[in-house]
Amino acid sequence: MSDKPVLLVTRKLPDAVEARAMRDYDAILNTSDEQLRAADLIERSKGVDAILTCSTELFSAEVIEGLAPSVKAVATFSVGYEHIDTAAAKKRGLIATNTPDVLTDATADLTILLMLGATRRAFEWGRKLRNGEWGRWSATELLGTDVKGKRLGIYGMGRIGRAVADRARGFGMEIHYHNRSKLNADLEVGAIYHANADDMLPQIDILSLNCPATPETVGFLNTERIAKMRDNAIVLNSARGSVIVDDALIEALQSGKLAAAGLDVFDREPKLDQRYLTLENAFLMPHIGSATIETRNEMGFRALDNLDAIFAGNEPGDRIA
Ligand code: DGY
Repeated sequence: MSDKPVLLVTRKLPDAVEARAMRDYDAILNTSDEQLRAADLIERSKGVDAILTCSTELFSAEVIEGLAPSVKAVATFSVGYEHIDTAAAKKRGLIATNTPDVLTDATADLTILLMLGATRRAFEWGRKLRNGEWGRWSATELLGTDVKGKRLGIYGMGRIGRAVADRARGFGMEIHYHNRSKLNADLEVGAIYHANADDMLPQIDILSLNCPATPETVGFLNTERIAKMRDNAIVLNSARGSVIVDDALIEALQSGKLAAAGLDVFDREPKLDQRYLTLENAFLMPHIGSATIETRNEMGFRALDNLDAIFAGNEPGDRIA
């Protein structure tokens, strides 16, 4: 019998991550990649020392209480951890960790893709080409809008928000932001702080949501706040779908109050509000912010670093509970 800790890996992970997990742990892999429900997690936790999970598995209080007593830690392969009830984990003495930092650049890059996709009408143009509707050149057809000189308002100026700001500066944009607290000048790099997000909204051309989902941010972009935005403004969301009230955004995109949206995340995803699919002015992606091989490897390695620290008797770097 191996003396390595037994590690349950809940989803299929990149080859390099699984190889390291197999090298250092008695790893139980999920080769079929089926999603594990509450009862599966509880059942498969028997004899397991730690769980390497993804954001697709819900660690509710009920699941956490039902886990086998042998389970010492849950490391999530994600920066977001709404799927883990951290209060319940603390109560049970279960260590939980996440993977910050390593997906910052990929998610910021994706946010820029959303911005350019929305401003340059990428969905409409791409569809025309694929439908064989690429006709004569036209000086007036489906014109987008420049980003240079535009004001980008970032809601949530954490690691990802700041990386979006860095990139947007390269496009010649003026950066505004709202954050719970004002950043030091070295992190602000000239960005204009709005202590109240509602004061920022009328001043910007493009809003980028880059906050975690918390009781304060869920439902932030509602009808009242959209009304405060400039006509023809653009909304980007690479954070969490629940930050937007779908009825409000869809109505604003249908009426033309907002020119466009670039969205990578949706409330109740993957079962997104189907009305988004009918909107010409919505550039949509299926939650691919971290979907590069380098980033997914780094996420896995970071999760394993945390587990290695725990099993070496050390404090993990990214403890959330
Ligand atoms: C994260 O890591 O939180 C990404 O959004 C994937 O869930």
